[in-house]
Amino acid sequence: MSTWGSLFAAAYDGFMAGPEKAVLRGHRAALVGRVAGRVLEVGGGTGANVPYYGAGVVELVVTEPEEAMARRLERTLAEHTLPARVVRAPAEDLPFDDASFDFVVSTLVLCTVGDMSRALAEVRRVLAPAGRLVFLEHVRSDDLRLARWQDRLHGVWVRVGYGCHCNLPTLASIEEAGFSVTELEHDRMRRAAPIIRPLIAGMAEAEA
Ligand SMILES: C[S@@+](CC[C@H](N)C(=O)[O-])C[C@H]1O[C@@H](n2cnc3c(N)ncnc32)[C@H](O)[C@@H]1O
Repeated sequence: MSTWGSLFAAAYDGFMAGPEKAVLRGHRAALVGRVAGRVLEVGGGTGANVPYYGAGVVELVVTEPEEAMARRLERTLAEHTLPARVVRAPAEDLPFDDASFDFVVSTLVLCTVGDMSRALAEVRRVLAPAGRLVFLEHVRSDDLRLARWQDRLHGVWVRVGYGCHCNLPTLASIEEAGFSVTELEHDRMRRAAPIIRPLIAGMAEAEA
């Protein structure tokens, strides 16, 4: 476990408290509150989505590859009565059978995975037919000026944010991975650094 990894995990909730209150909480409740059946969440972090899972969830598997985060996640889950377990694995290599989940939840994770197309291919593989990907992600701006700032500051941000890329066209990557987006809201992550404000929230279905 790296020192920066432990510090990042310890500081994460405090660092995100402003955007969480202002914007993220509402999206989490609206999206995560509707999932049901067998659910996989990738990159669960400290467990920010945990309070929003409802009674319709029959199985919840939350993956998290970073040990310091995984321990915090386990502590958060212990405070709730969900049928949940934590699995230490990256989204690019999910240790689950094909078609084994009804929903996959990814919130603020696709910016951080090492290989987004591989992670999305894995998400697609483990989703059952008609299963849905639930996403809440900060993305590359449609505004050219802001996108240029995202490119300029990317090198610094990726270090500060422990591998977080601030300039990725995530919606296009979701579609390129063979998903059809069924719900989409563009928003701004208020009270966060401007380069990570452009936000997308929605659901996508794997194309047959
Ligand atoms: C910005 S945090 C988001 C945490 C949480 N999902 C949330 O909504 O607050 C990104 C998380 O992705 C995890 N992560 C990093 N690389 C990953 C990978 N390859 N696969 C899955 N998760 C990863 C990090 O450890 C971290 O917990």
